[in-house]
Amino acid sequence: MPSPYYIAPAIDSASSFKDNLFNERVLFCTGGGSGICKGMTEAIMRHGANAVIIGRNLDRLKASAEDLSNRTGNTCIPAQADSKKTMERFGRIDFVICGAAGNFMAPIAGLSENAFKTVLEIDTLGTYNTIKATIQHVRATKGAYISVSATLHYRGTPYQAHVSAAKAAVDSLSNTLAVEEGPHGVRSNVIAPGFTSGTEGMRVMTGNKRNKADGFSNPLGRFTEISDIANAAVFLFSPSASFITGQIIPIDGGGEHLRGDFFPLSGLCPRSIKCTEIIEGETLMKAKGRGQGN
Ligand code: COA
Repeated sequence: MPSPYYIAPAIDSASSFKDNLFNERVLFCTGGGSGICKGMTEAIMRHGANAVIIGRNLDRLKASAEDLSNRTGNTCIPAQADSKKTMERFGRIDFVICGAAGNFMAPIAGLSENAFKTVLEIDTLGTYNTIKATIQHVRATKGAYISVSATLHYRGTPYQAHVSAAKAAVDSLSNTLAVEEGPHGVRSNVIAPGFTSGTEGMRVMTGNKRNKADGFSNPLGRFTEISDIANAAVFLFSPSASFITGQIIPIDGGGEHLRGDFFPLSGLCPRSIKCTEIIEGETLMKAKGRGQGN
């Protein structure tokens, strides 16, 4: 039966922004090989920018860079770790997306120190390292940063202690960057996606059983789409956002304001049977080094 409620449509950024908005601009994006960050990169390239995508898996990066170049008609190259290759190839960095992230589901009682540290290293240290590697170049262009965070840490989200701690720190880094670098003409904002269809994060958290919003509620009636996040990124890097800095912007259909059904697996709360199964699974996992999600 069709929903009696309004469900927000997902739109394309080209319907709101000029095609050549980012001509001559260069994007440096960590995590750009897949998912949300690849979607943001594609949208920014569609508006004229060239891009460098950074990640751990070079084969995937190469394939994604080729795909992004073909789909947008602009140039995307893969790189690992530093900004040298970007400067050699393009001579400037205007926009930076700090987006590399890792996630798996595990209760804090079953989370090893190394597991906790691994996610903090990818998300928090990764964001810090990206800022350090690019800040001089971004000052030169009076450019802007977007860090990709989450809404998990606004409350206690079960099995996400590691990711919540990492993302809280990412929010904090971005705020400091905004305050310190504003006088140099650099802006820094955070995008906090809600549960986003078709991403690795969704697969990890729901086993891809819940890619549709059946029974899951937020005020706008569906999960986040990658295009919702891409559109926000286009806006935040555009001149229209030139006075917006130090902000944390959830793209979750208003879900952060709801107490019920925040988590897409509504049965998954610390008193549920499923939780017991996970904790038991976690104990078993200890022998194998893996829990739910991987
Ligand atoms: N449950 C509990 N612990 C886990 C785990 C899980 N599902 N997956 C990994 N760990 C632990 C490992 O056991 C290890 O700890 P230990 O040395 O105490 O045993 C530690 O985390 C590091 O694991 P390792 O596999 O060596 O790390 P990695 O850097 O290769 O991979 C991730 C870690 C997070 C990147 C990997 O799990 C991953 O690829 N996840 C999917 C990516 C993703 O979620 N992207 C979307 C982000 S929103």
